[in-house]
Amino acid sequence: MHRPSDTDHREEATMTGHILITGAAGKTGGYAAKTLLNQGHHVRALVRRADERSERLAAVGAEIVVADLLDLDAVVKAADGIDAVYLAYPIAPRLIEASAILLQAAEENNVAAIVNMSQISARRDAVSNAARQHWIAERVLDHFTGAVVHLRPTFFAEWLTSFFDAATGQLRLPFEQARHAPIAAEDQGRVIAALVTDPTPYAGKILKLHGPVELNHQQIADAMTRTLGRPVTYVPISLDEFGRDLRKRGYDEHFVQHLLAVAVDYRNGIFAGTNDTVETITGRPPLTVEAFTERHF
Ligand SMILES: NC(=O)c1ccc[n+]([C@@H]2O[C@H](COP(=O)([O-])OP(=O)(O)OC[C@H]3O[C@@H](n4cnc5c(N)ncnc54)[C@H](OP(=O)(O)O)[C@@H]3O)[C@@H](O)[C@H]2O)c1
Repeated sequence: MHRPSDTDHREEATMTGHILITGAAGKTGGYAAKTLLNQGHHVRALVRRADERSERLAAVGAEIVVADLLDLDAVVKAADGIDAVYLAYPIAPRLIEASAILLQAAEENNVAAIVNMSQISARRDAVSNAARQHWIAERVLDHFTGAVVHLRPTFFAEWLTSFFDAATGQLRLPFEQARHAPIAAEDQGRVIAALVTDPTPYAGKILKLHGPVELNHQQIADAMTRTLGRPVTYVPISLDEFGRDLRKRGYDEHFVQHLLAVAVDYRNGIFAGTNDTVETITGRPPLTVEAFTERHF
């Protein structure tokens, strides 16, 4: 239902505007915020707590709002005067509630567009609790009366920084010889910036996001070896071993359940494929594994 008002952001083209970026201290939100600020947009950066990351965002021009995405009043206040929102909620319980709260806040403020971070494994019958919740959250957000765009990326290239063991030069992962095209958060930040400022062409769409080249983890290790000039070895491990590694790192059970289930999805090809969506939307191709490795290792 559309409710015209003095502050009706939907009456205007959203080619410029006031953008609310949630998860702004995180990976995709952080890059989206910086891209938008570089382009001269007003960015309200929602962070869970004030710290050095929010200080860095403030230093480059973001308006910082400290709020919990599970706090309806705080999110409604954060969406005041906003044209478009990027919603990023981590792999954590209460994703559907956070999405419903954001939807309500956007409606109360006549926000024009929501760009929603989901994932490629989101589906009704997903075994991962988080992936199934992403699918339900998408369906909840489909009720938004403005424009909504769902992003379904494959695994981020940032997995390589998280799971590379610099001491041994090993990538220990349970992915057998299955493939995906890793996509950097930086490239997703550019896609998000383009969509929140001009959502109309993609309104109502689900966009799969892939990096430029589909590889198995042996080929990923080879690309890292060439770039770093030191051996990187892919060590395929069992799901049990992966689960033990994750618990040793201190991840909670919600996250471990998700990663074990999507590892099976990965083996079954759910994360595979590539496309030109990033280049089509942003005019620039996404980073290769080599380029990502050069920047982040
Ligand atoms: N990683 C992958 O390979 C991959 C692939 C496909 C899709 N995804 C999707 O990507 C999304 C995560 O995006 P990301 O990696 O850009 O995020 P991220 O780096 O995990 O950052 C999430 C941010 O949200 C903040 N946050 C957590 N709970 C909050 C709350 N209740 N209220 C307000 N802020 C809160 C966190 O704050 P603190 O930092 O202070 O904790 C963090 O800064 C997930 O939905 C996931 O399904 C990930």
